[in-house]
Amino acid sequence: MLILGIESSCDETAAALVEDGRVVRSSVIAGQRDLHEPFAGVVPEIASRAHVERLLPTVDAALTEAGVTLAAVDAVAVGHRPGLIGSLLVGLAGAKALAWGLGKPLIGVDHVQAHLYAGCLERELPEFPALGLVVSGGHTSLFAVAGPIALTRLGGTIDDALGEAYDKAGAILGLPFPGGPHLDRLAQAGDERAVEFPVSRLAPDSLDFSFSGLKTAMLYAARGVPGGEPAPELTDQRRADLAAGFQRAACRAVILKIERALERTSPTPRALLTGGGVTANSRLRADLGALASRFDLELRLPPLPYCLDNAAMIAGLGYHLFRAGRTDPLSLGACASSAW
Ligand code: KG4
Ligand code: ZN
Repeated sequence: MLILGIESSCDETAAALVEDGRVVRSSVIAGQRDLHEPFAGVVPEIASRAHVERLLPTVDAALTEAGVTLAAVDAVAVGHRPGLIGSLLVGLAGAKALAWGLGKPLIGVDHVQAHLYAGCLERELPEFPALGLVVSGGHTSLFAVAGPIALTRLGGTIDDALGEAYDKAGAILGLPFPGGPHLDRLAQAGDERAVEFPVSRLAPDSLDFSFSGLKTAMLYAARGVPGGEPAPELTDQRRADLAAGFQRAACRAVILKIERALERTSPTPRALLTGGGVTANSRLRADLGALASRFDLELRLPPLPYCLDNAAMIAGLGYHLFRAGRTDPLSLGACASSAW
């Protein structure tokens, strides 16, 4: 079964063709970074206009890359929540028009749930139950995962998403937008113990996350505490040390909550599914690897192209929704918030 996936929830216009939920025949992403960089953040109105221009060329490119025409498409899956509402509406309208024109089913897919499926592309499904971690620019959540479409939320951020904290910390250090990958690179040259950053734990039984304190700690370390001593000069070495200290504290907070969840979840999870832009982070990937071997878990880290927003994860998960009879009417709406 060949599913066309469409993704437009933020600033990437993406289309992909995936066979039987597993074999990625094509995955095309038209990024808009250059349009948003001058504003150091995604401007919703610019994003939705750019999706309008790029959606059909991106679908065409995905069909060409897969060597098929629209006639080969069996269903159209689209990320319809959560995200920027204007951006979601463009992808959804395009997906509906294609599904209607082709007389094929429409499948609405939750973007956050799809991130967790990214590590299942091109391979067998893992053994369930699993634990799921989504860390992206907009989301930071932990899930108990009974199957590809059976999720229960265990916890999530009470303030900033992890990627958002990375991006803001990157901006404080004067890095280009989005700061996450740049901060990751800068941290390689730093001493992670030179500056101690707070590791957020919250209440002893909490599976929630908080990253706003870490972000403020970066602000004070870089610019000084208001009314206090001035901060040391922001030399290249100091910037690298701050990046490394920030990264250490951020990753420790994530690992700590997964450990808590593992201790508390019954039956014991067999696998750890991960997804979202911050799973591209080198330190987090290494820390997750170490944790998985300590707890004897199968770790599903998506390959780098599927960490960030893409449509292959939408088409892949769409297959499992279709098999469960979960297709949608053409009246399907877009929704800014997650179902979780
Ligand atoms: O999943 P994604 O493409 O979009 C959302 O659904 O939010 O994630 C984008 C986020 C950005 O905040 C970006 O800075 C972050 O992922 N990111 C990273 C790295 N690569 C991307 N954060 C830390 N280290 C990285 N290597
Ligand atoms: Zn995403």
